[in-house]
Amino acid sequence: MRRLRQGVVAVMLLVAGGAGALLESVHARADSILHRYVGVETCEICHSSQRIGRQFFVWAASPHARAYQDLLTPKAREIASRLKIANPAKDGRCLSCHVTAYRKPLPEILSTFRMTDGVQCESCHGPGEDYAHFSVMINRSKSKLAGLVLRPDENTCKTCHNPASPTFKGFDYHTARARIAHPIPKEYKKETVEMGGEP
Ligand code: HEC
Ligand code: HEC
Ligand code: HEC
Ligand code: HEC
Repeated sequence: MRRLRQGVVAVMLLVAGGAGALLESVHARADSILHRYVGVETCEICHSSQRIGRQFFVWAASPHARAYQDLLTPKAREIASRLKIANPAKDGRCLSCHVTAYRKPLPEILSTFRMTDGVQCESCHGPGEDYAHFSVMINRSKSKLAGLVLRPDENTCKTCHNPASPTFKGFDYHTARARIAHPIPKEYKKETVEMGGEP
């Protein structure tokens, strides 16, 4: 595992030019931490183009992107006050489902990550530090080894879509999944296979 980890880090250093900052982060990583959260802006770099399927924009237009901001609304304050919660945007009883990486210790979160971006890609696909690099991403086995949850499923959703949500009115997985669908076009997948990716 260690050697693999070093390999992945080497690839990271090659891919991203900002070697200085990365080296620092490599040194800062405690041995117990597997992968760290990078935040949606890192995914945006590659997942915005029409060719790859605009996953970033699909997400940005979805309720997940405003999950944190919605805790600042009068509606949120009303729900919170019924539960005797003074500030929903600062209270774990609301934040736990309305942001990514809630309660993760600071060393697991990189400085590019912003809680205010709500329920981000990494809430469902896992922390991205080690897979969010071109040479890793085009290869499924490498991505999975680097922590990518390739197929988030109903159980992933139900960590938040459950009766502990004060506004819960049931959850139909298939309808909900269709509402947030963000597939990669087949032609694009073919292209990455030609570049050395996995089919
Ligand atoms: C350096 C560019 C780059 C970055 C940054 C990046 N990706 Fe990707 N990602 C790709 C490419 C290219 C593919 C297409 C692989 C293929 O053709 O199947 C991909 C594929 C994926 C897939 C599908 C994998 C598969 O085999 O079907 C998921 C899920 C994914 N990315 C999530 C993310 C998330 C989440 C982030 C941010 C944490 C992220 N990506 C950041 C380039 C990137
Ligand atoms: C167990 C996870 C969970 C917790 C805890 C949680 N929420 Fe939510 N919240 C959700 C989910 C999922 C939705 C969307 C569907 C639903 O209502 O179940 C939602 C929707 C909302 C909405 C609706 C947005 C809209 O206008 O459509 C508001 C407002 C809200 N939550 C506020 C709060 C407040 C305030 C708290 C804390 C008192 C809280 N939530 C705690 C998961 C949660
Ligand atoms: C609420 C959970 C959730 C969030 C947030 C989310 N995804 Fe996904 N993602 C999924 C699910 C579910 C699938 C479908 C998995 C399957 O094929 O079974 C998926 C699939 C994908 C795929 C592969 C599509 C394909 O055709 O193979 C990519 C790429 C991807 N997501 C990227 C992203 C990026 C980038 C973000 C953030 C901008 C993001 N996702 C945010 C749940 C999520
Ligand atoms: C980290 C917690 C979290 C996870 C995981 C999550 N969601 Fe959500 N989801 C939310 C919250 C919070 C909202 C409400 C956001 C708002 O409106 O402020 C929401 C809203 C939604 C909505 C719109 C409201 C509704 O209920 O119709 C859909 C659709 C949805 N989620 C689908 C999914 C699917 C599908 C998955 C799994 C693949 C998933 N979510 C995983 C937290 C989560």
